[in-house]
Amino acid sequence: MTGHKKSIVYQIWPRSFCDSNGDGIGDLNGIRSKLDHLQNLGVDLLWLSPVYASPDTDYGYDISDYYAIHPDFGTMADFDALLSEAEAHGIGLVMDLVANHTSDQHAWFQAALQDKSSKYRDYYIFRPGKDGKAPNNWMSFFGGSAWQKDEKSGEYYLTTFTPHQCDLNWENDDLRKDVYDMMRFWLDKGVKGFRMDVINTIKKPADFPDKDPEKKGLQFPGELICDLEGVHDFLKEMHREVLEPYACFTVGEGAMTGQASVIRYTKPENKELEMMFQFDLALLGCGELGKFDFRKFYRWSISDFKRTIDAWQRAMQEDGGWVGNYLSNHDQPRQVSRFGDDKRFRRESAKALGLLNLTLRGTPFIYQGEEIGMTNCRLGESEWKDYEAINTYSLLQSMMHLPKIIARRVIQNMTRDNARTPVQWNAEKNAGFTAGTPWLKVNPNYMEVNLAAESRPGGVADFYKKAVALRKAHDVLTYGTYAPVDFENKRVVAYTRADETETLLIAINLTGKAAAARLPEAEGTCLLGTHGAREYAASLRLAPFEGAVFKLR
Ligand code: GLC
Ligand code: CA
Repeated sequence: MTGHKKSIVYQIWPRSFCDSNGDGIGDLNGIRSKLDHLQNLGVDLLWLSPVYASPDTDYGYDISDYYAIHPDFGTMADFDALLSEAEAHGIGLVMDLVANHTSDQHAWFQAALQDKSSKYRDYYIFRPGKDGKAPNNWMSFFGGSAWQKDEKSGEYYLTTFTPHQCDLNWENDDLRKDVYDMMRFWLDKGVKGFRMDVINTIKKPADFPDKDPEKKGLQFPGELICDLEGVHDFLKEMHREVLEPYACFTVGEGAMTGQASVIRYTKPENKELEMMFQFDLALLGCGELGKFDFRKFYRWSISDFKRTIDAWQRAMQEDGGWVGNYLSNHDQPRQVSRFGDDKRFRRESAKALGLLNLTLRGTPFIYQGEEIGMTNCRLGESEWKDYEAINTYSLLQSMMHLPKIIARRVIQNMTRDNARTPVQWNAEKNAGFTAGTPWLKVNPNYMEVNLAAESRPGGVADFYKKAVALRKAHDVLTYGTYAPVDFENKRVVAYTRADETETLLIAINLTGKAAAARLPEAEGTCLLGTHGAREYAASLRLAPFEGAVFKLR
């Protein structure tokens, strides 16, 4: 059993990928029409953010039917066609498993609401109130109380994300069996596995205690719901029941998860998950409450960035854990805007970051549009679509007393809408995304930033293709040991990746200024460079955002 560590995974957020029928919404047939591009890029697995039926209060992460395709995206026949055509392109599909919660429109929840004695009541987490208020002081991930009142029974139900996403009760044996059956349904069709949404919060504490009861107001429950001991029992059972028999690909998303937990989830002998994402890089410069916590002013240094990567790389290799590396996704700003320079050095920094992601130990994830160096789009308030952005905007003003103009800037920098503007395919109308009116504004920079332009020699997509090919040709980039080089350098991140057959050295200038790196005295041949091939030198000068991979002798 070799597993899927060597895969290159590409994430699609279907609503914004490609629209085939002119209704302004990306769809499955749109994805089918771009399989050549994905094959060309060298992708092995396509992770589809949720394509199931959903009322879209959280754009698909609120599922109302796990067995149905969202009509905006097409039909089950379209899905089956996508599955077989992807396979013909050498690409497997990965589904998003959103099993911490369902939509309040799901038939289970509707039955639970209608009849207290229905078996589905216990599929969710209903509790009596306390002193005429919610059962405890928990705040949801998106702000506001994590409890909603069921007026009919007077009880409250738990919603740790939007008020329309009802947390499932994993203690219930029938619920777990239903989830496993549903997973088998998709696996039997031929999907390769799952990305597991907030999988580290499926276990809840039995007594639902207040968080920091001495404090006033709502408190985010954090460690009270993340990575509890019992999550591991659930995952071991899932592994036995579903994952192992199908030899599934699995990657877990764990809110606020730490290195020790990730190691536990992903150590092969523990028989839980293949890999997990980490959040420390995404949260650089954020306060302890997460990405909209502006109290550290989003200030971070290259040294912070390097330390974060280094700590994860070393922890995983020392203790047998495995991470899925990413620099952006549908929940984060665009990587070039967040970690690079989206103006003067857009193209260079997109390549530099791509090279980093594709040469670290772990399994690389590329988010749609990254391969063309897409940037944040400064959307006006009336253009925001995301619940998180809209809700947080008012909380920043009412609870944190931020002036409107500053609150707006915080949201504009960090909103998930940044990652969700339509993919820019070419310089034609609406960037070639739709013949109709796009559901969310197309970034006005599409005349310059688009796949057609970036596929030419020297473009970002042209470079990504080479970096992906390099990774596939050198096993050492997946499995080899990682060791930092010139770690004190404040501009350049450098490291070696080594195994019995070869040693590669990667050096990347992460700043908009020229920089020098101190590398080992050795002979080196350049395998790939963002600015073309480079001569190896122990004292290497790099242009702004220049990066290169050398094979050492
Ligand atoms: C995960 C998803 C995010 C979603 C949330 C609730 O963090 O990535 O998009 O809003 O879970 O399902
Ligand atoms: Ca469409």
